Amino acid sequence: MKHFINLKDVPLKDLRRILKDAKERKKLRKKLSTLENDPKAPLKGKLLIQMFEKPSLRTRLSFYLAIKQLGGGTITLRSNELHLGGGGETIEDTAKILSTYGDGFMLRTDSDKKLDNFKKYLKIPIINGLSPSSHPTQILSDVFTVEEIKKKSISKLNIAWVGDSNNVLNSLIEASIKFSFRLRIGCPNKYKPKGNILDTIKKQNKKIKIFNDPKKAVKNADVIFSDKVISLNDKVNIKNKIKDFKNFKINKKLMSFAKKNCTFLHCLPRGNEVDDFVFKNKNSKVWLQASNRAHVQKSILLYCFDKLR
Ligand code: CP
Ligand code: NVA
Repeated sequence: MKHFINLKDVPLKDLRRILKDAKERKKLRKKLSTLENDPKAPLKGKLLIQMFEKPSLRTRLSFYLAIKQLGGGTITLRSNELHLGGGGETIEDTAKILSTYGDGFMLRTDSDKKLDNFKKYLKIPIINGLSPSSHPTQILSDVFTVEEIKKKSISKLNIAWVGDSNNVLNSLIEASIKFSFRLRIGCPNKYKPKGNILDTIKKQNKKIKIFNDPKKAVKNADVIFSDKVISLNDKVNIKNKIKDFKNFKINKKLMSFAKKNCTFLHCLPRGNEVDDFVFKNKNSKVWLQASNRAHVQKSILLYCFDKLR
């Protein structure tokens, strides 16, 4: 059994195995309908318990499809409907029950500490479905999408991020280190990565660079990533923060500083960090990106259940 909490904790060899498996499984789905099992239904009889402390559309649906297509089933819990949410039961006891009834646990949480605590007490694998500090399943799937579109290893590409320093960027930084790709981050000075993350970036021998000017960040980019300026856990003055990002909007002019066929990606949901022209343009692959989540999540589940080919 293996946990999937942060990309930095998973060996590159295993991340590559997950991506390879996802590619093969995606091919096999062409002739199958939505709920038909993958050949051999490798997770037949397994129950994935999903718990959301924050809203989710894509993560919820893609994990649902993933476990169903592998032959298993899922139940979705909201923490406020459990004793845990109201403070009437400890994480230790809750984890014991989850381990008794289920085979795997996917948690979207508002606390990184909670992920660690669940990990400590669970006897089944835990998958991080987004925390305040990371969104690893999203970014591993995005690496898959980039390589599918560009038909080459991400290590040969220039990746740019224009937006807030948030959980999704943190996982992209971890991916940049694991997969060894160049990453240029564009954000206002006030919002650039801080603390441990900044220290990590500084150690990367300039492979990861931060710019206060979005044009410099996207220069020569093969792919531009973005995300909402205001994340689910943001406790900021929303109006002021949006104003601070005024010059970082991704529009046709900004895209013109990147490579000609630069791909635009966004984990969704979107805010006003990208205009409709870029979002709906042929080089925006956001819908493919969202649909790939299910394929990659399947291989992440198999990895956690020690069933990866
Ligand atoms: N990208 C993503 O995680 O979407 P949801 O919040 O809808 O799950
Ligand atoms: N950074 C965003 C990602 C949503 C999928 C958030 O945490 O709200």
